[in-house]
Amino acid sequence: MQLDQIRQIAVIGLGRMGHGIAQTFAMAGCQVHGFDESDDARATVHRRIRGNLEDFARNDMVDGTEIDVVLDRIVVADTEARAAAGADFVVEAIAEQLTAKQEFFARIEDAVADTTIIASNSSTYTISESGVNMRRPARAVVTHWFNPPHIVPTVEVVPGPETTEEVTETTVALHRKIGKLAVRVNAEIPGFLVNRVQIAMIREVWDLYERGIASREDIDAALRGSLGFRLAACGPLAICDFGGVDIWATVYKGLAPDLRHDAEVPESIQKLVDADRCGTRTGSGIHDYDPQTIDDVTSQRDETMLKLAKLLYDPQ
Ligand SMILES: NC(=O)c1ccc[n+]([C@@H]2O[C@H](COP(=O)([O-])OP(=O)(O)OC[C@H]3O[C@@H](n4cnc5c(N)ncnc54)[C@H](O)[C@@H]3O)[C@@H](O)[C@H]2O)c1
Repeated sequence: MQLDQIRQIAVIGLGRMGHGIAQTFAMAGCQVHGFDESDDARATVHRRIRGNLEDFARNDMVDGTEIDVVLDRIVVADTEARAAAGADFVVEAIAEQLTAKQEFFARIEDAVADTTIIASNSSTYTISESGVNMRRPARAVVTHWFNPPHIVPTVEVVPGPETTEEVTETTVALHRKIGKLAVRVNAEIPGFLVNRVQIAMIREVWDLYERGIASREDIDAALRGSLGFRLAACGPLAICDFGGVDIWATVYKGLAPDLRHDAEVPESIQKLVDADRCGTRTGSGIHDYDPQTIDDVTSQRDETMLKLAKLLYDPQ
C-alpha cells in the first residue's frame, strides 16, 4: 500500500484515544469509519469530537465553519466489519488486553483487503505479540499515539520483525501527512521509546515524592519549569550538547549510583491505587480535585497544550 492510495481509515475503539485519532485523520481530509463495542461510545463520539474541534477553533487551529465538514467525514458503523470494509488503513484503540488485541488482529484480516495496513495503538504490546495469530503479519505495525492524541504531536511507529519496509515507510509518511510528528522506532522493545524514558523519570519523581524531598506542588512546578520547558524547545540529546557532553558525563557518574534503581512501585503510590485514588478519573490521586471543577482541570490542560502545539508544531 502506497501513501497516495490511502483514503479511507477505520478506527476501532472510540474511547479516550480512538476518538482523537479519528478526529486527526478527519481534520486531514480522510474519510473515517469508526466502531466501538460500547453503545455509549458510538453515540457520543461526534459530540466529544465537536467539543475538541471547538477548542481548536478557539485557538485558530481550525476554521469554525469547518467543524461540521470535519464531523461529516466521520461515519460510525454498527459493526467492526462494516467500519473496516473498504479501509486502506485500520487502527485499533481498543482495551489494553493482550487477548482482546490478539483476537482483533486475527479477526480483522477477514474484513479488509490484502493490501490494507493494520495498526495497533497499544502502549505496551508489540505487534509481534498482538499480531501473533495473523496470517499476514507483514502488514501490521504499531502506531503509538499520546494522550490527548488530537493534540500531542508525536506518534511512534514501531514495526515488528515481519513488518515490511513498505508498510513501515507508508505508515510513517501517512502520519506525517496528517500533521503528526511521526518517529520510527527501529527495534521492538517493551515500552517502545518514549514510555521507557517516561518510566525512568517517574521512578525518580515518585521516589522524591515518597521521601518528602519536596511538596507534590513543588515537584510538579520544578520539572515543568526546567526539564519540561527545555524539552519543549529541544530534545534531550541536543540539551546534552548545549550543556557540554563532558559535564553531563561527570554528573552522570556522580549521580547515577544514587538514583533509585529497583523495580518496585513505591509504597505510597501503591497505597493510592489500593484506595482507588487513581487521579482525575476517580476524583483524587496524588493531587486532590474539586468535583465541581474537575472537567475544568482537563480543559485547562488541553488549552495549554493546544497553545504549545500551535506555537511549536502548527505549520500555518
Ligand atoms: N490513555 C492513554 O494515555 C493511552 C496512550 C497511548 C496508548 N493508549 C492505548 O490506546 C488503547 C485505548 O486506550 P484508551 O485510553 O482510549 O481506552 P478507553 O477505555 O478510553 O477506550 C477503549 C475503547 O475501546 C472500546 N473497546 C474495547 N474493546 C473493544 C473491542 N473488542 N471492539 C471495539 N471496541 C472495543 C471500549 O468500549 C472503549 O470505548 C489501549 O491499547 C491503550 O493502551 C492509551
